Amino acid sequence: MGKRVVRKKEVTEEMKNRAKELLSELTLDEKIGMIHGNELFATKAVERLGIPKLVTSDGPMGVRAEFKPDRFERIDDSSDAVTYFPSNSALASTWNRTLAYMTGSGLGMEARGRGKDVILGPGVNIKRSPLCGRNFEYFSEDPYLTKEMAVEHITGVQTNDVAACVKHFAANNQETDRLQVDTIVSREALDRIYYPAFKAAVREADTYTIMGSYNKINGEQGCQNKETLKDALRDEWGFEGVIISDWGGVHDTKKAALSELDIEMACESDFDNYYMAEPLKKLILSGEIDESVIDEKVYRILILMQKLNMLDGAERKRGAYNDEHTRETCLNVARESVILLKNDGILPLDAEKTGKILVIGENADRKHSDGGGSAEIKALYEITPLTGLKMIAGGNTKIDYARGYDSNTQKEHHNIGWQEDSLLDGGGKTAEAEKADEDLRKRRRLLREEAVRLASDSTYDQVIFVGGLNHNSDLDCEGNDKRDMELPYEQNELINALLDVRPDTVIVMTAGSAVSMEQFADRAKALIWTYYAGMEGGRALAEALFGVINPMGRLAETLYKDLSQCSAHAVGEYGLTGRVEYKDGIYVGYRYTEQNGIKPRYPFGYGLSYTTYEYREPYVSKEDGYIGVRVCNTGDVNGKETVQLYLIGEGEEPVKELAGFEKVFLIAGEEKIVKLYPDELKAGRKYAIGSSSADIKAVISVNG
Ligand code: BGC
Repeated sequence: MGKRVVRKKEVTEEMKNRAKELLSELTLDEKIGMIHGNELFATKAVERLGIPKLVTSDGPMGVRAEFKPDRFERIDDSSDAVTYFPSNSALASTWNRTLAYMTGSGLGMEARGRGKDVILGPGVNIKRSPLCGRNFEYFSEDPYLTKEMAVEHITGVQTNDVAACVKHFAANNQETDRLQVDTIVSREALDRIYYPAFKAAVREADTYTIMGSYNKINGEQGCQNKETLKDALRDEWGFEGVIISDWGGVHDTKKAALSELDIEMACESDFDNYYMAEPLKKLILSGEIDESVIDEKVYRILILMQKLNMLDGAERKRGAYNDEHTRETCLNVARESVILLKNDGILPLDAEKTGKILVIGENADRKHSDGGGSAEIKALYEITPLTGLKMIAGGNTKIDYARGYDSNTQKEHHNIGWQEDSLLDGGGKTAEAEKADEDLRKRRRLLREEAVRLASDSTYDQVIFVGGLNHNSDLDCEGNDKRDMELPYEQNELINALLDVRPDTVIVMTAGSAVSMEQFADRAKALIWTYYAGMEGGRALAEALFGVINPMGRLAETLYKDLSQCSAHAVGEYGLTGRVEYKDGIYVGYRYTEQNGIKPRYPFGYGLSYTTYEYREPYVSKEDGYIGVRVCNTGDVNGKETVQLYLIGEGEEPVKELAGFEKVFLIAGEEKIVKLYPDELKAGRKYAIGSSSADIKAVISVNG
């Protein structure tokens, strides 16, 4: 891709004048109604002036189900079942900008089709630790990859007369103590790691809105923070759009009013008592705060409404949802997100030779759409891996299934209340809890024994295990961080027992964040990684297993062996309450492992294929600002290669930093020139071209 053309929506003099005119006619009460939630997901309309309410909806993986205006209770009909898009972690694994754009435009169309004005996404926070409960909603550990994918996504969303709401600004990288934790982070780390995606959302994607984060940043709450909202976002990057609080992110009327925040949203239904409602009105009436402060906010909202064609009977796109083309996008994203981690000649499976397959593992038969917190989706449908395998293998292949493990935690299974729970945490256990523990262990052992017994049956041509994580509240879920990187539910024991009896068992991990695979990765002969990949995810996985498609996903995050390999944990600053200091600075993800000579299990940018590629004759075109290389598909199946460009560091800088990438389709034997355009081709510097951060094919200098 050459230089991106920013499609900025011009704010005309006419729009400005109209906003001023409306502003002059609004009463104080009406203005106050426009700057805070009057429903859980909407502000208040001013009907007499034709100003509608601003309607928002979560979230990154689709348009969330409808709730009652004042309660988190779903409206119980079937009309809000929608497209379940692959999560951003899956999307990032495609390294495909076009798919990011199409996902965004599909999501925007659905949001508009459901009558929304603002879709609360994408989430662009950096994956600083594998433990973050919301990692599945985020793209990557790398700021460049995150920004490249996010910019396309946002641009796509906003082609539909719907605003993206890029979240959560800023440095929101853990769920522990999420409403209060104070993130202490240097300006350098903000600029180079945590800000770039937000900055690009403003500068390169012209995002119309941004969501402030729950956490504090350097001492002040994210939704009323001068350093982030004013100094960086408004003054430095020139953001003129609307800043919306996270739901319950405001803590102080005066601070919020005087900050750059425009709209306060929260989760309670006493809307008049929101900080920027009656309490603010009082401060204005008493003269403590000047009314001009809210005029600025309302002005920005009126400009936003005009950008979205919401005022004065403007012609506005209608949108649509559950469109078949959008489902095709979901399938294509899911296909390109499957990551082949290891393959000792087992894959792809030959449908003709596999008459009988045994599938094991809860994730083979589990739907993930309706979970994870605010990103939950009421999906029109979701194809599980088991369904996908049966769909693709067809009637000549018999597929049996065994659950293998049980993901019900003791708590969820026995519905133990919080009091008993607190006893468990305190070390003491009630007799009932002991019994529940015992039952759970027994259930798991029985499931494991059954699965292993079946897997020992030599009439099965292939055994496939599909496990990993899920959206249970202690795993990939908003509001909580994972306790550790271990695979839950005794899956390590199960996988090893399966490999004992069937060394050729294919191991598939489905998760939203990295888990340690140390207990089986060396033994397994075939290993696949998938994220929550949307409504077509199971089909895409089955296609990859059977070679209908060639796996072409790449890791957008490092898969560590254990937590000690991750910067945040190495410096001992992750998941703390009260205060967390980002002592790892800019050395996050592979920037940290490379600096310290650490070999992770699988490096950033990694992913195998059923074919092989060769890189030849790299060259620099200084004039056109790119580095080129010939890439040849030297195998005998078609495939897509992700060519990566890394800037090689000097002095104290990280060893390598991703600076460009291109995904290229090559039929077997084909060769193409791939051009990699970094944001700035730096004279006098060296660049590495590779197929992952660890697999460098060539190093080339740009003459000074
Ligand atoms: C989440 C946001 C979400 C909002 C509205 C908050 O708890 O942090 O990401 O958009 O709720 O549901």
